[in-house]
Amino acid sequence: MTHSSSSPPNAASSKNQHPVAKEFQITFVSPSGESQSIRIDAVSPPSCGTGLPGSILDIALSQGIEIDHACGGVCACSTCHVKIKSGLNSCSEGTEEEEDQLDKAPGLTSQSRLACQCVPNGQQDVVVEIPGWNRNRVREGV
Ligand code: FES
Repeated sequence: MTHSSSSPPNAASSKNQHPVAKEFQITFVSPSGESQSIRIDAVSPPSCGTGLPGSILDIALSQGIEIDHACGGVCACSTCHVKIKSGLNSCSEGTEEEEDQLDKAPGLTSQSRLACQCVPNGQQDVVVEIPGWNRNRVREGV
């Protein structure tokens, strides 16, 4: 028996489309360097109702992983600043509003996103670094 070859099912070329993969993995790397990986249902990700549905923040909090979120996940601060070390191409594109808030965050890189606004579509696994300086900054009320 032979199988006909065709394009792989995950060959979508555009960003921020409806998910095509059933599951993907998010790995959170804490400020202390510890990592925790979670399998995510791409169609129905876990949610706690904070941040955009299916956002990095929404998923993290629903799994007991703390990311600071001073404004409650409504894109009005920069405390949820994270770095997407892998899988950034599978995440929603940042809006102008998000860019404006990110401009206020220290340590910006091309991998910087607001966790409450960054929604992975499930086409790639994602690695999220939670910067330690961000947490300290909030706790010290700077
Ligand atoms: Fe304030 Fe994300 S929690 S911008």
